[in-house]
Amino acid sequence: MADQEDWSTDANEALEISIVQAGSGSPKTLSTFHPQFTYPIFGEEERIFGYQGLRVNLRFAAHDLRPNIEVLYDKRFKAVGDTKATNIEETLKEWMPEVSFEKVGAFNSHIQNDSSARHWKPPGELLESYTSKGRKFEIWSGELTDPAIRQIIERIQILISFFIEGGTPLQLDDLDWTLSRWRVYFIYEKLSDLSSPNASHYSIVGYSTSYRFVTYIPHQRLTPHLLHDFNLPPDKPIAPNSLPHRARISQFLILPSHHSHGHGTHLYNAMVQTFLADPTCVEITVEDPNEAFDDLRDYCDYPRLLANNSLSQISLTTSLPPHLTQKRPGIRVPTSKLLPLPLLEHIRKKNKIAPRQFARLVEMHLLSLIS
Ligand code: ACO
Repeated sequence: MADQEDWSTDANEALEISIVQAGSGSPKTLSTFHPQFTYPIFGEEERIFGYQGLRVNLRFAAHDLRPNIEVLYDKRFKAVGDTKATNIEETLKEWMPEVSFEKVGAFNSHIQNDSSARHWKPPGELLESYTSKGRKFEIWSGELTDPAIRQIIERIQILISFFIEGGTPLQLDDLDWTLSRWRVYFIYEKLSDLSSPNASHYSIVGYSTSYRFVTYIPHQRLTPHLLHDFNLPPDKPIAPNSLPHRARISQFLILPSHHSHGHGTHLYNAMVQTFLADPTCVEITVEDPNEAFDDLRDYCDYPRLLANNSLSQISLTTSLPPHLTQKRPGIRVPTSKLLPLPLLEHIRKKNKIAPRQFARLVEMHLLSLIS
């Protein structure tokens, strides 16, 4: 019998994710990539036991993300006592909807014959269109209560575990009553259909979710002034969606085949514009940003604050009282003496930026003044 090592496969290598275009004859593969992490699914070691020559093909229709899982291998380990090959389908059932497990032939014929794909539009409303390197892209957004949006999220969100360390898919059944607080933002590439000028194909590029985190305001503080500020009716019950809230960006993903083409920047900026335009949104926050997202956020927030002249109002004070300017060892000048803190707070609130992120931006700005 071969030793254990021969029967163990790197799960990240074995799993191959493909985006396939439907409705244009035989399935056309638009992009293929491997997951970055599989430990939440296959365990800390990210290995699958019991196969030789293993390949797990996870394919998604480019437009509505209909998924299919196909497990291929040369040899499978014959069970010896309690030692059995990993049941890959069974393991993935916790992560993927039922439709993923239909026979590969059924999936192929669905993809081949899905003529609706050529006239399909992403669900929700169109927020923005842009071009990058001569290709057309669109950002769409809608509520998670929209069944078409929910279906796409159910199908695609395994990718959150594959590409965001510590990222967890939304437990959609548990969200239930808070579902209307969630919005989804999709980026799709709009591909021309060469056989028909009126048709086009949409292909997923990435998506993000945001959550309305309701800000508690004690009843006695709901003054007429505040009601006016948040556009709330003074004499009617307040609809949950018009309550002042923090927008929290929860999951943010651009597919690897589209990285470094400015899509993350477009998506983040489009989301921020919707939060800024919403009078009930008081602050934009991010749930557990990683380093790559922190960079993206800085690259987007800093130019925005420069362009709207927020940063130009901030400078270090040059007229400190003499006892603070004397160079004595250990002297610490209080921040309140160096910076116009009330003005800073005003600018921060106007731009709806969370305190820690605003402090980063102010620091960058001050460094730019002295460098
Ligand atoms: N000056 C210099 N560089 C810039 C500028 C600028 N003004 N603007 C952008 N960049 C660079 C960035 O440094 C980065 O460079 P790199 O590609 O060499 O790393 C790149 O441009 C990033 O910009 P975009 O192309 O707009 O970003 P992209 O579309 O690649 O998306 C993202 C970035 C979202 C982090 C993507 O890599 C991704 O999805 N990663 C995997 C999932 C992930 O980590 N998501 C964030 C988790 S945190 C959360 O979900 C809240």
